[in-house]
Amino acid sequence: MNTSRKISVVGLGYVGLPVAVAFGKAGKTIGYDINQIRIEELRHGYDHTGEVTAEELIATDIVYTNSVEDLKRANFHIVAVPTPVNDSNQPDLTLLLRASEIVGKALKAGDIVVYESTVYPGATEEDCVPVLEKVSGLTCGRDFRVGYSPERINPGDKEHTFCRIKKVVAGQDTESLEIIAKTYETVVTAGVHRAPSIMVAEAAKVIENTQRDLNIALMNELALIFDKLAIDTSAVLQAAGSKWNFLPFKPGLVGGHCIGVDPYYLTHKAEKIGYIPQVILAGRRINDGMGKYIAQRTVKEMIHAGHYIAGSTVTVLGLTFKENCPDLRNSKVIDIIRELKEYGIKVQVHDPLADTDEASREYGVSLSALEELKPAAALISAVAHESYRHWSLDKLSPLLADKPVLIDVKGIFDHCVLQDSGIRVWRL
Ligand SMILES: NC(=O)c1ccc[n+]([C@@H]2O[C@H](COP(=O)([O-])OP(=O)(O)OC[C@H]3O[C@@H](n4cnc5c(N)ncnc54)[C@H](O)[C@@H]3O)[C@@H](O)[C@H]2O)c1
Repeated sequence: MNTSRKISVVGLGYVGLPVAVAFGKAGKTIGYDINQIRIEELRHGYDHTGEVTAEELIATDIVYTNSVEDLKRANFHIVAVPTPVNDSNQPDLTLLLRASEIVGKALKAGDIVVYESTVYPGATEEDCVPVLEKVSGLTCGRDFRVGYSPERINPGDKEHTFCRIKKVVAGQDTESLEIIAKTYETVVTAGVHRAPSIMVAEAAKVIENTQRDLNIALMNELALIFDKLAIDTSAVLQAAGSKWNFLPFKPGLVGGHCIGVDPYYLTHKAEKIGYIPQVILAGRRINDGMGKYIAQRTVKEMIHAGHYIAGSTVTVLGLTFKENCPDLRNSKVIDIIRELKEYGIKVQVHDPLADTDEASREYGVSLSALEELKPAAALISAVAHESYRHWSLDKLSPLLADKPVLIDVKGIFDHCVLQDSGIRVWRL
């Protein structure tokens, strides 16, 4: 098999673009996306996800395209399209299978297709390969090969970037594994881990996030218990964390399209083979209920502070699913907002990173600029954006009305200072 590879990346989102950029620094790379607006933006050096700077984009040799003809110029195709769940928390492979059709149209003998999208064990060979074969008319294993290399990037994290994270790679046979490993080794300075099979690599990815989800679920459950016992959870975690092997997880909202979604890919596969997961789904239920809990706790604190609930105003700081990232998809902050509204509370939302149109389209939330925020009965600091972390009492005070309540979900403010100034503070 040909070892010199011309790369294409299909799906230029949070994952695909940094991958394309890494390869595009080393040589001509085809960057394919079905979204024409995204293609135009990238051609003009603009990445709305904030993962890649204009300077970096200029320094690469990437052909941005939505033409299958351009894809045919590559012989190593990397697929990085979204793999969400549907309303019933079942894997939705629609985009992955559509991307496989597109790649299938461009496939030639000798090509390699590597999936980076997160899937359940078996999806590459059982779901994607049949589509590639059907559309291309070629036979997998004889005419072309497939591999899997899960992505570990962490949007908003400028330290753990694509090239600096060890990458798991897998191929359908020894020869394809070597080609895939060597191809990634040209750009991933942290090196690669050769997994023994595609299913092992697929499973490794979903359990990385499942483990994280469960650890946070445990912290959330502890926070619920300690709240009832009137003990400060962060003080407990600090004390327990003084032991050498206590893991430093914290309670919080689990949103986004990875940690809160990937476990469902695993549980779907488990259920398909007749095993009903118990621990994993219990963790999911706890994490999915945290938004509602925070809203209810806010209402209780407001009542204790002497506020009438219906008609009062609450300000929510942060709408994105995590800090320092503009991604709004599957944000759990919306659960807080919706629950507060059910109590007849008026909710104002501020987020310096979220896109105003997207917030309105996706959630019906109209974002307010800082200067538009009216003093509120309670302020919920929901997302720990870097810009919020530096807010002092002087910045917070004008945002609060009489008998102020501050719900500091991530514990980013100095509670002693706030309490001394008469603010009622609660944190998870
Ligand atoms: N974002 C993360 O933190 C992260 C981390 C690790 C793994 N992953 C996984 O990587 C995959 C991609 O996630 P993402 O966050 O980059 O998604 P994304 O939504 O940011 O980007 C996906 C891109 O794919 C494009 N696209 C959709 N369907 C397409 C198709 N058929 N052909 C070509 N392009 C298509 C979209 O237009 C979009 O630009 C998912 O499986 C996700 O679970 C994501």
